[in-house]
Amino acid sequence: MKKIQIGSQEAQVGEVDELCGALADEVEALIQSRAEAGKFAVLGLATGSTPLPLYAELIRRHREEGLSFANVISFNLDEYEGLGRDHERSYWCEMWENLFDHVDVDPENVSVPPSLSDDPDRAATEYEAAIQAAGGIDWQLLGIGGEGHIGFNEKGSALDSRTRRVTLARKTIIDAAPSFGGEENVPTHAITMGVASILEAKRIVLMARGASKKEIVHLAISGEVGPDVPASFLQNHKNVGWFLDGDAAGS
Ligand code: F6R
Repeated sequence: MKKIQIGSQEAQVGEVDELCGALADEVEALIQSRAEAGKFAVLGLATGSTPLPLYAELIRRHREEGLSFANVISFNLDEYEGLGRDHERSYWCEMWENLFDHVDVDPENVSVPPSLSDDPDRAATEYEAAIQAAGGIDWQLLGIGGEGHIGFNEKGSALDSRTRRVTLARKTIIDAAPSFGGEENVPTHAITMGVASILEAKRIVLMARGASKKEIVHLAISGEVGPDVPASFLQNHKNVGWFLDGDAAGS
């Protein structure tokens, strides 16, 4: 893995297994230091294709090296509106399938934004309160959408936005269409943690893979900071890490 400078930011660039190794090291160190202090590590987690090899590496460490998730509390970034926990395309299911089912996390300690509430505002406020009650997020993992979204904070999302119900951008719906068997099956709304909620994490890592992300990654890292590319708000976070494969970095 090598460090490269993009605008004012330093990015880590490497093969996917190197990126995942480095990110898993961060998670492991956090979990262990908290365990030694008798405390919980609070993880902010993402779904989508980007983190899958990282989750596979965490599962491997659990199985082969005894990394325990017993002292982990986790909060996911977002969830499609209307998809219950039993819907196979829900982010709830995705997280269980790709991580939680394979490690020793306490099911009571994992949260995904509520997708079926008849009062989304109240549910969103409660989600934020639960994060605060856990002591805030220690380590937040992010992917990046084709137009620069983080969580489902689409283009236009404000710096002070909190957990809330959002309308998905057309590009987000098109990107999700194959896994839903067509655009018409993709939910039009979601619940997402806000930009402000994300920026409160003590450490944030954004991971991007593949040439299709190259342009938006560069805009996020070195373009103007603002709601046109919500990921650009990360530039002003004091402990952000950009983890890119060679294709996403364009190197
Ligand atoms: C998912 C999420 C999204 C994804 C982004 C990239 O929980 O918050 O912001 O991280 O859409 O998705 P992939 O990784 O599938 O390219």
